Amino acid sequence: MTVRQFKVWRGDSAGGQLVNYDVDVNEGEVVLDVIHRLQATQEPDLACRWNCKAGKCGSCSMEIDGMPRLACMTRMSTFEEDETVTITPLRTFPVIRDLVTDVTFNYIKARETPAFAPPKDVAPGDYRMQQVDVDRSQEFRKCIECFLCQNTCHVVRDHEDNKAAFSGPRFFIRAAELDMHPLDARTDRKEYAQKEQGLGYCNITKCCTEVCPEHIKITDNAIIPMKERVVDRRYDPLVRLGRKILRRDQLEQEAVAVTTLHPAHPTPQPDGTAPINWHRELTPPMGADVDEKGHLPLNELLSDRVGANSPFGDDVEFPVDPTKLNYYHPEQKH
Ligand code: SF4
Ligand code: SF4
Ligand code: FES
Repeated sequence: MTVRQFKVWRGDSAGGQLVNYDVDVNEGEVVLDVIHRLQATQEPDLACRWNCKAGKCGSCSMEIDGMPRLACMTRMSTFEEDETVTITPLRTFPVIRDLVTDVTFNYIKARETPAFAPPKDVAPGDYRMQQVDVDRSQEFRKCIECFLCQNTCHVVRDHEDNKAAFSGPRFFIRAAELDMHPLDARTDRKEYAQKEQGLGYCNITKCCTEVCPEHIKITDNAIIPMKERVVDRRYDPLVRLGRKILRRDQLEQEAVAVTTLHPAHPTPQPDGTAPINWHRELTPPMGADVDEKGHLPLNELLSDRVGANSPFGDDVEFPVDPTKLNYYHPEQKH
């Protein structure tokens, strides 16, 4: 057992600071072990969210030396023995207390994502899928909802205002999974992601992929294919011609047909609160998201397969200097 140095952010929604601790560390331990020892021996009120200690529940997300990680999957052997390890809460979400943040944003976005739309003419129990189709979406089903990718994505990490219009990488993989699903009756997953989930804001920095503990190729296997297909569709000459020929009222009839496929059947909540409508009526996007001259918005043009600098790329060295670490705090300017 050796004594190692740590800086842990302590505070709540009113403010806080990094506090120094010396903690015993045994060989083979992970950062979550150290937090537990700190709670057991020095700081019984240190708040930290965790559950499985096996990298499967997605609860123990935090930033360790500035890098978004699962505390239960970060071995202490990663760090030099004389190094001070700095542990801070996820920066993108508001702090509740110490290392616990309010990740409600992600549940709001989950609710906004249209659910699987069962095929109209096939009864439950008669659904059949080829193994190849199962395999394609299996990667995305590995998601443990740790929200490290959501925390890392610069679109919301540094721009609080973007949160309303941007669902984030976790929900792009959900859209991609349903887009690849042979039995999903919605055919507008890509267009929906583009128009309603803010896919166009993503400029493929791949930081989300870099931090995913499940090694899901979020950018290469979900975001880029969806971007390519949505752009292909916009420039498909037949689709463009069809748009011109189809009268507006026909388009509107199609929209009604899709939205009535899953009419609203709000599920009553046992506690009497407002029912959840998992099949919200959403108007499917019909037209290309272009300006009056038929040009794509600038962010779309810039984003297509051009990688911007990653905040965790060449210009950042770990560990990040603790005095330069910052995170979203409702009361603090940053
Ligand atoms: S590739 Fe970059 S911009 Fe796109 S979702 Fe991932 S982190 Fe965000
Ligand atoms: S995609 Fe990866 S990083 Fe994002 S929530 Fe799922 S497991 Fe976590
Ligand atoms: S405690 Fe479950 S993922 Fe870390």
